[in-house]
Amino acid sequence: MDRFEQRLDEIKQSPRTWLVTGVAGFIGSNLLEALLKANQKVVGLDNFATGHRRNLEEVRELVGEKKWQNFRFIEGDIRDKAACEQALENVELVLHQAALGSVPRSLNDPITSNEVNISGFLNMLNAAKEAGVKAFVYAASSSTYGDHPALPKVEENIGKPLSPYAVTKYVNELYADVFSRAYGFHSTGLRYFNVFGRRQDPDGAYAAVIPKWAAAMNRGEDVFINGDGETSRDFCYIDNVVQANILSALTSLDNSEVFNVAVGDRTTLNQLFNAIKEALGEQGVTYKKTPVYRDFRAGDVRHSQADIGKAERLLGYAPQVRIFEGISRTMPWYIANV
Ligand SMILES: NC(=O)c1ccc[n+]([C@@H]2O[C@H](COP(=O)([O-])OP(=O)(O)OC[C@H]3O[C@@H](n4cnc5c(N)ncnc54)[C@H](O)[C@@H]3O)[C@@H](O)[C@H]2O)c1
Repeated sequence: MDRFEQRLDEIKQSPRTWLVTGVAGFIGSNLLEALLKANQKVVGLDNFATGHRRNLEEVRELVGEKKWQNFRFIEGDIRDKAACEQALENVELVLHQAALGSVPRSLNDPITSNEVNISGFLNMLNAAKEAGVKAFVYAASSSTYGDHPALPKVEENIGKPLSPYAVTKYVNELYADVFSRAYGFHSTGLRYFNVFGRRQDPDGAYAAVIPKWAAAMNRGEDVFINGDGETSRDFCYIDNVVQANILSALTSLDNSEVFNVAVGDRTTLNQLFNAIKEALGEQGVTYKKTPVYRDFRAGDVRHSQADIGKAERLLGYAPQVRIFEGISRTMPWYIANV
């Protein structure tokens, strides 16, 4: 039995109370599903800025009415201190996911990204310290590596941020570190690398690449590749991210730490295009067009690949699903929901 299975067994025996912020979003709703399935009590906070009620409804159907009774939802904004305090009542473990994602969104509107991702983060961090929670785990980002050229990415070597979004996620880490030194309140930042899976939003101007392409292929529309298609990423299936969050919340550390959460692989956009096309083909959806290449996108890094050694050593993290398996597990959801 690996560390994750052991931890899951332990919490099933003695359930905890968790707060998941951003619970109506992609990652938040998957954390909710996993925790409710493991018989945990969960409080969820979300203002539906980019999340959806339909994600909560889907989780309800997947876990069944009995387990759904262990969930309490609060509609509220992390920019509102009182909402943060209310959400934390009787909570032991926090998985803070609420933020405005997307590099282009932050380039178009840096002020709102700053308010949500920095002021909102600080509200949650400070309220969690005041409430004396046992663990505070938050969504950091691989964008923090910015223009640092080295591959694979190792936690301590970062470059200059390339977007307002990257600044906000780095400031989260700085606050987490200062709260550790100044108040002895330790937290764990998970630098996610291009997460994908069921319930990731395929619509809107700021959709991520896998849902955007899965939706376009399902609809027979053009697929656009920014640049020459040799841009690469360490795409990480959602179940690995759920594992990293739960392990982090249940591991005590002597300091605030940040960890890469990825697989350690590197896949180009051209390879990704073929993988999605093939996976859809296996499910009976045939896509006949070739991709349309256009300019590189501002703020994007060229290559990204994680060294996951630190998370393996300190958390016992062991990603179980690699990209191609993850893509085939994900496509049925897009076929059913697009
Ligand atoms: N998906 C990725 O590849 C990826 C990569 C790196 C980091 N992250 C981070 O992971 C977290 C979750 O991302 P996601 O992909 O699930 O995105 P998402 O947009 O699906 O989820 C974010 C959720 O936060 C909620 N939210 C936004 N502003 C809020 C506010 N002011 N108050 C309360 N709730 C608010 C949204 O309504 C949404 O439900 C974010 O912090 C994001 O920056 C994601």
